[in-house]
Amino acid sequence: MDKEFLKVNKHGWNTLVKNKEIFSNTSLPEYGPFMANENELGLSKDIVGKSILELGCVSGKSLEYLAKKGAKEVWGIDISEEQIKNAEQLNLKSSKFFISPMEENPGIPLNYFDYVLSLYSLGFSSDPIETLKLASQYLKSGGKFILCWIHPFFNCLKIEDDKLVIGHNYNDENKKIITKGPSKVELFQYNLKISTIINGMIETGMEIEKIIEEEPKEKNEIGDYQSHYFDARKLAASPTTLIIVAKKK
Ligand SMILES: C[S@@+](CC[C@H](N)C(=O)[O-])C[C@H]1O[C@@H](n2cnc3c(N)ncnc32)[C@H](O)[C@@H]1O
Repeated sequence: MDKEFLKVNKHGWNTLVKNKEIFSNTSLPEYGPFMANENELGLSKDIVGKSILELGCVSGKSLEYLAKKGAKEVWGIDISEEQIKNAEQLNLKSSKFFISPMEENPGIPLNYFDYVLSLYSLGFSSDPIETLKLASQYLKSGGKFILCWIHPFFNCLKIEDDKLVIGHNYNDENKKIITKGPSKVELFQYNLKISTIINGMIETGMEIEKIIEEEPKEKNEIGDYQSHYFDARKLAASPTTLIIVAKKK
């Protein structure tokens, strides 16, 4: 494991939680900024009685949403003890939380879950491909993996000198330092090519069921999102979020 990556990110996420600088726009029912949400997409329609694991579960909001919809048990793993503290305070029935990097197994049963979720968390893993492998191992045969992450094309777009340009090389899959929140907390992030993510899933024994690249619903920078990152010209040019639904064979 990349110890420096994990140290920076654990500290960064704990700081963001303590400063209350977390946006909630990627917690279910939302899948991502300006994206169609779960009420529209219905990816977890058959959730009643199902067992769920979320990788990078934040403060448990998505798991709470699924528990209210009838999930039988909800498990979460997150590197930030501050996030898990908040998640445990939700007192969700049949819940279990682990403070751990998602790129190792802290004692989660294999071939057990009906759903594994990774909602805007994969690129914060120091080893995204190993994380996909673990996601597959946790699923029972026929279980589903729902992944959403920054759309790699959106990530390449940038506004420079008031023009929309390709500011990031799509071929460059190396880790990068990004800053998040008003206090510009530093975090490491991987942005992989679409093919790397999909091939990673296929190699771990998953079949791709659906790829969703929705056009942003609004194309004006609004609310929490007022930043160049969500400039209206970028929103007009690309989906913000890539969603992939896969099934374990
Ligand atoms: C962008 S947030 C996910 C967004 C989330 N779906 C929401 O509801 O807002 C990323 C989460 O992953 C966690 N995280 C970051 N790196 C991690 C790692 N290597 N292993 C486990 N959790 C990690 C962070 O603490 C944070 O809670």
